[in-house]
Amino acid sequence: MYFCHMSFLDEIARRRTFGIISHPDAGKTTLTEKLLLFGGAIQEAGAVKSNKIKKAATSDFMEIERQRGISVATSVLAFLYKDKKINILDTPGHKDFAEDTYRTLTAVDSVIVVIDVAKGVEAQTEKLVEVCRMRNIPIIVFINKLDREGKDAFDLLDEVEQKLGLTTVPLSFPIGMGYDFQGIYNLWNENIRLFEGEQKTTISQSNLIENIDDPALEKAIGSSAKETLAEELELVREVYPRFNQEAYLAGDQQPVFFGSALNNFGVQELLDCFVDIAPPPLAKDSEERTIAPDEDAFSGFVFKIHANMDPKHRDRLAFVKIVSGTFTRNVPYLHVRLKKKLKFSSPNAFFADKKEIVDISYPGDIVGLHDTGNFKIGDTLTSGEQIHFRGIPSFSPEHFRYINNADPMKAKQLNKGIDQLMDEGVAQLFTLELNGRKVVGTVGALQFDVIQYRLEHEYGASCTYENLNVHKACWVEVKAGGEEDFAGFKQTKAKFLAKDKQGQLVYLTDSAFSLQMTQSKYPGVIFHATSEF
Ligand code: G4P
Repeated sequence: MYFCHMSFLDEIARRRTFGIISHPDAGKTTLTEKLLLFGGAIQEAGAVKSNKIKKAATSDFMEIERQRGISVATSVLAFLYKDKKINILDTPGHKDFAEDTYRTLTAVDSVIVVIDVAKGVEAQTEKLVEVCRMRNIPIIVFINKLDREGKDAFDLLDEVEQKLGLTTVPLSFPIGMGYDFQGIYNLWNENIRLFEGEQKTTISQSNLIENIDDPALEKAIGSSAKETLAEELELVREVYPRFNQEAYLAGDQQPVFFGSALNNFGVQELLDCFVDIAPPPLAKDSEERTIAPDEDAFSGFVFKIHANMDPKHRDRLAFVKIVSGTFTRNVPYLHVRLKKKLKFSSPNAFFADKKEIVDISYPGDIVGLHDTGNFKIGDTLTSGEQIHFRGIPSFSPEHFRYINNADPMKAKQLNKGIDQLMDEGVAQLFTLELNGRKVVGTVGALQFDVIQYRLEHEYGASCTYENLNVHKACWVEVKAGGEEDFAGFKQTKAKFLAKDKQGQLVYLTDSAFSLQMTQSKYPGVIFHATSEF
């Protein structure tokens, strides 16, 4: 028993569950692939498919389906490295799928942010890092594509600090850049790695140079490059704080690495440091109490639901992050929202190239559960305790349309389809208070096509859309003593009021201006940008 308990704690301590976030094209897929190569999880480059939605694909449904297929396959990529079990959770970079990424970020214990050296901090990076910072998720920054001409390293560090609000600590530093890129000075392990040959595509294991005074360095890169490097390193040491692991874990300090994922440069340095400093599974807040990973009782939550690709099999895969205890096959667990016990005969564990039925999973792991419609995003499973995990809020959609039934014979199919697609988190549904009409809200315009297509192909239902002028959805809360304002607000804004799927009251405001006016007219009512407040 004692031994058994030890191994449970060891299992927790060796897990690293994280996400890679970036603006599309910064190199997330390439970096993921290189990490898997180091882990020996794949044998050759090109094995990880990019799940980017290519621009031309927006009206091509086969392409959307293909992307969906890839995105199941890459949802969780697990591998072993230096005896650590590493789980990479896939985060779509495309802005139309930003909600997916926000939800996935509730299941990671840390993130790596990839930034393109030439483009610097881009829009999607800003949004995603903001979400990480709200939750104090530990962040490591990887500045990619050093083989290309880009911004000056110091300017880039400034930009990262300004735009992302981070406190950077360079743990590596480039020697030259673009055409002059010669290698990386690793401040973490204090050594230097240089490119080999003209092509800058291979790194030599042999030309690992121990320190800056090594004569081999000057010989290899020339005396002026060596001088520059020495000056830059001095500046780094003067200007930036020393790395402090606690500050990193608290989200107060962010280590930065430079490299080129495509050429496999700087990637191993990143990975070696990552396994040393990144956090194992952390405790998680629930509405009732904080749950520690080493508690014996199992708990976990659903952060993603994926519909089966085969429309003949309606079952879906619910992705559960294990927070505490162990998840064991065929053991009944409490589905807290439904208040019923469910057991799972074929829970899936994920690896880089396959998924497999697994008997036991530990905190930090993700299990995929076959589901016939019991789950929705945010659901909690436990050994029996009534726990509700927090932190999967809905954000206001950007696009809103009425959804109408186009085939009166198929109303039931339509409702079921809409229901299930919303549980999956494809979009949000609002029901107008005044007339019961249904409004679908999405992050990107692309989702409307996806919904229409999937309703038809998976549920045999057809729908049409109708435009509706909504700027934002705001979740409504009444302040203590604000009842009179609330009554006035309800009366004047009756045709803008709706319920979300949880039955929470939402104000569908038609412009930023009218939201502002309404807010100043009814100070007793609070308008929230997310469903969780
Ligand atoms: P993403 O997942 O973040 O969207 O980016 P992805 O890895 O797909 O990389 C986007 C493009 O950037 C790819 O080129 C990729 O080869 C290139 N890339 C990634 N890392 C580096 C690097 O270190 N240096 C250079 N020079 N390029 C890099 P593509 O032409 O768009 O795609 P592909 O046709 O080569 O796959």
